[in-house]
Amino acid sequence: MKAVDELRTEHKAIERMLRILQAMAEKIRNNEQIVNEQLDGIMEFLSVFIDDCHHGKEEEFLFPALEAAGVQRESGPIGDLLGEHEQGRGLVERLKKSLETYRSGNMESSVDIHIIINEYVGLMIQHIEKENKGLFLMAEDRLDASKDNEIIEAFDKLERERIGSGKHDEFHAFLDDMNSKYLK
Ligand SMILES: [Fe+2]
Ligand SMILES: [Fe+2]
Repeated sequence: MKAVDELRTEHKAIERMLRILQAMAEKIRNNEQIVNEQLDGIMEFLSVFIDDCHHGKEEEFLFPALEAAGVQRESGPIGDLLGEHEQGRGLVERLKKSLETYRSGNMESSVDIHIIINEYVGLMIQHIEKENKGLFLMAEDRLDASKDNEIIEAFDKLERERIGSGKHDEFHAFLDDMNSKYLK
């Protein structure tokens, strides 16, 4: 298994979350109340699984290795992808604020939540596609086996230190649970 295979597997989990988010946005727009526990779980998934863990692996290990292998950062694919990570962070911040308003009982923020989620989902879908079909192919082409192993080890270490062992399974169990609640 190559380093990018691990990231592709995480993309599949992220895509499941994006479908759940969209279903949740519809419910919120229809003024249905969402349980706080589910909102907390979703926000934790967005900031810990997607940003700290997945984007962390890309930004701290994969992108620098590709830059060293000659892939362009400024006005190139890496700079473009980093910019999209930043955009995603901005949207998650806005979502967090709108959800606080919603949780305080002000349903006016439901329209904003719907807009922000749609923007985030659209951004992430095309971002994942761009990585899967672009940068990850370059990685398979340009990183030799020893560099690739080094990156896999760094990914494991990041995961242990940043989210702790067992947390990954917890996130997947949460996805299964949310999937059965929202998409069936
Ligand atoms: Fe990314
Ligand atoms: Fe990614």
